[in-house]
Amino acid sequence: MARLAVRFGGGKADRRAEFSIGLLGRLARRANGFLLRHALWERHYAQSKLEDWRIAGRKAPVSALRRNLNMQMADGELATILREIEKRRPCSLLIFGVGNDSILWHEANRGGHTVFLENDPFWQRVIRERHHDLEIVPVRYDTKARRWRDDLANPPPLDLPAEVTSRKWDLIFVDGPAAYTAESPGRVQSIAAASRLVAPDGTVMVHDCVRTAERTISDRLLSHLPVTSQMRSLRCFTGDGEAEEKDLRANGVELPSAHTG
Ligand SMILES: C[S@@+](CC[C@H](N)C(=O)[O-])C[C@H]1O[C@@H](n2cnc3c(N)ncnc32)[C@H](O)[C@@H]1O
Repeated sequence: MARLAVRFGGGKADRRAEFSIGLLGRLARRANGFLLRHALWERHYAQSKLEDWRIAGRKAPVSALRRNLNMQMADGELATILREIEKRRPCSLLIFGVGNDSILWHEANRGGHTVFLENDPFWQRVIRERHHDLEIVPVRYDTKARRWRDDLANPPPLDLPAEVTSRKWDLIFVDGPAAYTAESPGRVQSIAAASRLVAPDGTVMVHDCVRTAERTISDRLLSHLPVTSQMRSLRCFTGDGEAEEKDLRANGVELPSAHTG
């Protein structure tokens, strides 16, 4: 059997560890099998808890989803997002940021069109490997979290492919980029893009609005969406389609007779 020897240190303290390649191969296959089963389990779990939630309309499945899918948000925020998807599904759903929650949004809008935008190659890879059918579009931000006031005064354009820009989206959830640290990209570009891409009667939900930057950027760039509500750190902006259409027509913009999304 092939063996791999690894030498630690030197001289008298020379120690040697020998690994069996056969053993490593078996461990790698086990790990792959585990990851595959985990991904299948996640999808199945999301589907079955969504069903429970739809039938019973209770909080328990929401809590279980949040805990067992290891999501970074509160139950009330999760329930708010699910209700918004439920009101409109199947709908066009655009999400800035991927994470452990991605499979849940994909399943909640099954039959609709869900697209994720992600800047971090690590998270792109992790979620793609877990769920091959999720549509994840790579994106590059040129902003910095610490510079958000300057970026807000002059938002840099965001380069997005036609598959994202060629339509208006019923529902947009901004949970990226991470913007956790001063040096990481900030959210001016993602929120500005959401403001352009949302349908006239659509909703934009922005997470992390307990942070001054996210709240101020959203209030400024989404001020044309008149209905605002907040659940903990999740701020929701909903457009009044009719008012917006009237406004556009009054300004001489020709619109099709019905919005097709
Ligand atoms: C706030 S996280 C999104 C997390 C997601 N809402 C969840 O509940 O798992 C925003 C960004 O951080 C990165 N990210 C995703 N999942 C993460 C995690 N579990 N821990 C740290 N960063 C994460 C990704 O780059 C993502 O675009």
